[in-house]
Amino acid sequence: MFHTQILTLFPEFFDSPLSCSIPKRAIEAGLVSAEMIQIRDFATDKHHKVDDSPYGGGPGMLMKPGPVVGAIRAAREKQPDTHVVMLTPSGTRFTQVKALEYTRKPGITLLCGRYEGFDERICDYVDEEVSLGDYVLSGGEPAALSVLDAVIRLLPGVLGSPESALLDSFTEDGILDWPHYTRPVEFEGRSVPKVLLSGDHKKIDQWRKEQAQTRSKKR
Ligand code: 6GU
Repeated sequence: MFHTQILTLFPEFFDSPLSCSIPKRAIEAGLVSAEMIQIRDFATDKHHKVDDSPYGGGPGMLMKPGPVVGAIRAAREKQPDTHVVMLTPSGTRFTQVKALEYTRKPGITLLCGRYEGFDERICDYVDEEVSLGDYVLSGGEPAALSVLDAVIRLLPGVLGSPESALLDSFTEDGILDWPHYTRPVEFEGRSVPKVLLSGDHKKIDQWRKEQAQTRSKKR
């Protein structure tokens, strides 16, 4: 069982995505667990304050160290071997290779915060800071969901056919996928490439590799 814990102010954000499709089936099959930890539960003041304005001035609010570090400690207590990942636009880029590396760990803990960021001292309590790319989300939750989904589908037993994950484009060498077609053979004047209907599998393999190459160069 691969254990995931999500530290968030909005655990309900994950309800619907985790009850659909592949994540749902993986959880039901006992291949992965997804535990929500409410950061606000670790606020110690009477108003349960979890954020505050930055020293030195400027816009926005920051996640306070107290509640967040409390939540991280609770996660490490539940799963001593967990790998704690902070989701932040200033982290290092999340990749397919990283997703694959996470599947080799006993479990991961995903720390979500508001987009203005975390008090810098929180970084000392996490194992890694990760970003999805060069754009800004309103919080870490949608990023954590993407990481979680990318990892779950790579876990042994999750996908129907074991070769699907291995065939993923750009896992190994950054090569993009080739174009795919299904019925009908003609759609609004657009035809399926003839080679795919030929039954000649050597030719089809060759065509797909060429298509993937040109696409990767172009994009
Ligand atoms: Cl990990 N967090 C936020 N707030 N925005 C992002 C991101 C993460 N990755 C890309 N944009």
